[in-house]
Amino acid sequence: MYEGLIRKYRNYLDVQDDSKIVTLNEGNTLFLRLKNLPSAIGLKNVNVYVKFEGLNPTGSFKDRGMTMAVTKANENGSKAVICASTGNTSASAAAYAAVSGMKAFVLIPDRKIALGKLAQAIVYGARVIAIDGNFDDALNMVVRLSETEDVTLVNSINPFRLQGQKTAAFEICDALHRAPDYLMLPVGNAGNISAYWMGFKEYYENREIANLPKMTGFQAAGAAPIVENRVISNPETVATAIRIGNPASWKLAVAARDESKGSISAVTDEEILVAQQLLASQEGIFAEPASCASVAGLIKKASAGDLETDRPLDIVCVLTGNGLKDTSVVLKDELKIDVFRPDLEQLRTLFH
Ligand code: F0G
Repeated sequence: MYEGLIRKYRNYLDVQDDSKIVTLNEGNTLFLRLKNLPSAIGLKNVNVYVKFEGLNPTGSFKDRGMTMAVTKANENGSKAVICASTGNTSASAAAYAAVSGMKAFVLIPDRKIALGKLAQAIVYGARVIAIDGNFDDALNMVVRLSETEDVTLVNSINPFRLQGQKTAAFEICDALHRAPDYLMLPVGNAGNISAYWMGFKEYYENREIANLPKMTGFQAAGAAPIVENRVISNPETVATAIRIGNPASWKLAVAARDESKGSISAVTDEEILVAQQLLASQEGIFAEPASCASVAGLIKKASAGDLETDRPLDIVCVLTGNGLKDTSVVLKDELKIDVFRPDLEQLRTLFH
């Protein structure tokens, strides 16, 4: 039986005691080749895959880092964890704290997180604290609190988070028997792009793979500090998960981009929502808006002719979170669903 990513990738992770592993059997997520979308956007000679991290136990990639961070907190005898979050980290921290018997304190930007994520933090039993400010303000607060209070910080500044998250790179390489040519993913606080790059490099050094991908990150246009090379004090985007103006892992992300000869560029909210719609209607996959920045970026690069398609390519888009967490973007207009009487004759007319 699969028992989570720490046991699977034990040799790459520093955990002392098997009996204390805190896991919800995260990882081992769906990896799928897209059937319709590539040709719909004019891509030939390219295999486009998605890694659907929205199928982790709390519906996002955060569970990979949280199994490690909470396992280590537990190992060190901690009784409580704390994080700032745009939603997914708080959901994940709350769930892993719940299963390990720890308290979770989560600071969120007031009214700026998707309701599904808020519901998760509440139902898992976290102490939810809304801040009249943005994610960057909340992160600043939790860093300070963790320095004075008896509580372990589980944002991605905690190095064990990235350790856990790097295993997604291993899974992709295990499935393809190589690294993809491009890894495309959304960038918010910039931990994930840094973790993937660490994972690919470790696999390369251990000769599990003989190539490395171009790390290709995308920020939302209204929250693109790395692209613009400046702190954004009032970040705005429909993709609330990546509404971040001063990413904690900024330097690591720039290093990943440069070492891999990749890029970090911006996609607009409109491009994100078009990508979300295409992915759902062409492929049957519902990912949250932030996740769809990766597909929006693929579409943008494909139409700009930025991909070297003279040879067969493997491209992996990471879908970081589940669309069910944030239905408001799809349902935001008045529900346009026709209501009929339960009259069979009238219903039959719909088929003609
Ligand atoms: N996609 C989703 C769905 C996210 O929730 C996040 C980050 C990202 C992408 C960006 O990843 O920060 O490692 O660059 N969410 C954090 C949170 C900030 O609080 O849940 P990153």
